Amino acid sequence: MESLFESVEGGENREERLAELARQVSVCTRCDLALNRTNTVFASGDPYSPLMLVGEGPGENEDATGLPFVGRAGKLLDDILAAVDLTRQDVYLTNIVKCRAAVQEGGRMKNRQPRTGEIRACNPYLQGQMEAVKPKVILCLGGPAAKTIIDKDFKITQDRGKWYELPGGEIWAMATFHPAYVLRQRGEDLNRAKRAVWKDIQNVYAEYQKVLEERG
Ligand code: URA
Ligand code: SF4
Repeated sequence: MESLFESVEGGENREERLAELARQVSVCTRCDLALNRTNTVFASGDPYSPLMLVGEGPGENEDATGLPFVGRAGKLLDDILAAVDLTRQDVYLTNIVKCRAAVQEGGRMKNRQPRTGEIRACNPYLQGQMEAVKPKVILCLGGPAAKTIIDKDFKITQDRGKWYELPGGEIWAMATFHPAYVLRQRGEDLNRAKRAVWKDIQNVYAEYQKVLEERG
């Protein structure tokens, strides 16, 4: 994990560091998700944003396009950001794994959650992105991202909406429900999940505004 990034440390600017990381990801074979991918999905948005959003991993649409959150969950993510007048160009958006996790089911490939070993194998890239982008605020989208970034014992239903200072300081992290989870809810559960996410994004936005004001 240390040596992987030696070549991108040093005096280069963050866009060069991120481009180098993206290049490494594009040819990565550190886990078996490399075997079935069409495209790696590195990130999108503003590498200078104080706000980083971290999802779970590419699905079918993201694997096909190489871009994060382009399917139905992505549309909902746009709506969530729009609720506080943000667009995905205002944030840095990535995932805990950069290749699609899928399982064969009845002759077609179905998205699945990434396994612990896959998340661990991919973590150096996420760490590299965090070191390059230096976000002040991280919003984890869903339990797997929260377990990876905040605490391995994170419980999304219990702990979402709370602020956590990451070790090393200077980064505040929160988790909210994943947009795809919200889309799976029905009736009163759907209303409840939406209210929670809308409340969380307001709090994240307030913190983001504070950072922008401090930067002047
Ligand atoms: N879900 C995620 O977690 N990430 C994506 O990029 C797309 C869907
Ligand atoms: Fe490499 Fe991450 Fe893709 Fe696994 S998921 S092959 S570690 S880029």
